[in-house]
Amino acid sequence: MNEEKRALLTIGDKQYDLPIIVGSENEHGIDIRSLRQDSGCITFDPGYGNTGSCQSSITYVNGEEGALHYRGYPLEELAEHSTFIETAMLLIFGKLPTRQERMFFRNMLAEEELLHEDLLHHFNGFPPNGHPMAILSAIINSLGCYHPDLLEISDDTLHRAVAKIISQVRTIAAFAYKKSIGQPIMYPDPTLSYCMNFLHMMFSIPYKHYEPPPAAVEAVELFFIVHADHEQNCSASTVRMVGSSQANLFASISAGICALWGRLHGGANSAVMQMLDEIRERGIGVKDYLERVKKQEFLLMGFGHRVYKSFDPRAKIMKRAAHNLLGSMGGDDEIIHIAQQMEEAALSDDYFVSRKLYPNVDFYSGIILRALGIPVQMFPVMFAIGRMPGWIAHWYEELNDPQTRIHRPRQIYTGPTRRQYIPIDER
Ligand code: ACO
Repeated sequence: MNEEKRALLTIGDKQYDLPIIVGSENEHGIDIRSLRQDSGCITFDPGYGNTGSCQSSITYVNGEEGALHYRGYPLEELAEHSTFIETAMLLIFGKLPTRQERMFFRNMLAEEELLHEDLLHHFNGFPPNGHPMAILSAIINSLGCYHPDLLEISDDTLHRAVAKIISQVRTIAAFAYKKSIGQPIMYPDPTLSYCMNFLHMMFSIPYKHYEPPPAAVEAVELFFIVHADHEQNCSASTVRMVGSSQANLFASISAGICALWGRLHGGANSAVMQMLDEIRERGIGVKDYLERVKKQEFLLMGFGHRVYKSFDPRAKIMKRAAHNLLGSMGGDDEIIHIAQQMEEAALSDDYFVSRKLYPNVDFYSGIILRALGIPVQMFPVMFAIGRMPGWIAHWYEELNDPQTRIHRPRQIYTGPTRRQYIPIDER
């Protein structure tokens, strides 16, 4: 951290000399920690678009240039050369693993993949059409009851806790799906790779083993890598906020899953598919649809991002993967055609150009998930499996940051000023 630069803030006739923190990619932040105490003022930033909540060495996003790096490595390189598990290790433990470290962690994942048998009863407590995000969040939180030794995590227990969560989130997700369609659950198969094992638990049935085509495994791998982290987004910030009260890892991640569920965050990929389906089924012209977006009747789902003001690099990878997958497996060509038409029309329309609205990661990812046979309700669950390494990395970084304080923003109060209580008969 470089603190040589200073910022001068004038409030009335007083000046405040504030340090400027400079990050390793030359991002600048005015350190206002002493501002309220010195001046009585706080800063006002609804939605936190200009607020740095922490210093972090996990992920770097440059929204203007459309760059995304995990621990310094560009996403494009990881997507080309790495696997999801290696990427997860990079994010959580801070470096790319050696062959031996990766093998050790793979074995741990296999050891940890079975849920405690008693935990299976919890699935029966949910109605058949219960949303899998509610089930995922509840069961991840319940894991803490079955593993009280992991409620406090040290360097000694970190690997086991990480392996348990990364491995079991996939088991829980697949069991929730099987429950929702009334099929018997399929136990994990430790001989399979992470993504193949997931597809097996999702799509095998007791008398028929599912053999996914290589393109499907590759698409799942890419989907998970692309979603693995995205610095201080809504769900990661939720995990950090909950963790800042020293809540355990399971509880903090369970909260992150709930944050991800919203339509404006992890729920956007299903909203994109609903939009594309509606356009096709009702025969709406793409241009007509965009006109209604421009009248602000509704948002163009899968477009826009708080940070990216140019192309979301994840969207480029997802677009290519969608084409590859549909090319080799066959699938819904018409939907991808509509999506492409929509992208081209929006990117040549001043409304979207002037607001710097580009396709985000969710625009093409739903097409991939549908081609894989994943039902729409499971889309945010897929995002959650992918995002797990990021949430864990943020939780652990927060826990070990000596500057961490419980997250507790201030507010500007706008309610009534002091008034006297009125007894009920006089109201
Ligand atoms: N469609 C149409 N107009 C949009 C869209 C959109 N998808 N997104 C933003 N705009 C417009 C806003 O209406 C606003 O217009 P105005 O200046 O005339 O008022 C302008 O662009 C600026 O947008 P903001 O609201 O400031 O954008 P913000 O940073 O608050 O929101 C968000 C970002 C939530 C992602 C937003 O773009 C959106 O809702 N997109 C659709 C949902 C979506 O795809 N979410 C996934 C995000 S990626 C992820 O979570 C993995």
